[in-house]
Amino acid sequence: MISAEILAVLAEWLPANDDPARPLISLATVSPTGVPDSRGVLLTDYDERGFTFHTDAASRKARDLAANPVAAFSIAWPELFLQLSVQGSVEQVSPADAASAYAARSRYLQLLAWLNTAEFTALPLPERQSRWAAFDAAHPEGTLLAPPGWAGYRLRPHRLTFWRGVPLAASQRTEYTQDAATGDWSVGILPG
Ligand SMILES: Cc1cc2nc3c(=O)[nH]c(=O)nc-3n(C[C@H](O)[C@H](O)[C@H](O)COP(=O)(O)O)c2cc1C
Repeated sequence: MISAEILAVLAEWLPANDDPARPLISLATVSPTGVPDSRGVLLTDYDERGFTFHTDAASRKARDLAANPVAAFSIAWPELFLQLSVQGSVEQVSPADAASAYAARSRYLQLLAWLNTAEFTALPLPERQSRWAAFDAAHPEGTLLAPPGWAGYRLRPHRLTFWRGVPLAASQRTEYTQDAATGDWSVGILPG
């Protein structure tokens, strides 16, 4: 569990979970053959258990997580001289949690989750647009459930690093590390 002290810092840095503007995190995973990969995904929400994100179960990242259930992400706010880096283990969220995350997605992202297939993306643009419009019209707002491949993951952190840039001085990192045996968190200060 993330400590109350860390959650207080996260609450200052990240938007509230009900803010529709979701932050983009750069998510790194490790392939079955040990090769790292990264891509941007939306942070769905976070709480004392960890950070959740959602994706297609047929994606490369889902394949990576099945083989190596660990991940890291970073997110930076360069104009504020802030960066957060997180590392931890990953588990799938419950079907009920995945369903409610889908319901909270924007209409565009709900449609995208259904139409984001290899077959659809190979079509010419006018065909993709007409099929998109037809699917949209056939599924009025509020009627769509998550597609079968909709998958939610929770990254349970064991390390969180808060980087702060300082005017006219060296940047500094505050790093929280969880003891694997006790679950207790320790904090240290590192150079940037
Ligand atoms: C702004 C932005 C937000 C994105 N959000 C998500 C997301 O929440 N989930 C997701 O699976 N992909 C999202 N993507 C697409 C991913 O970056 C990526 O292209 C896709 O998930 C395939 O990644 P993979 O082949 O490494 O699994 C987003 C891309 C951008 C640019």
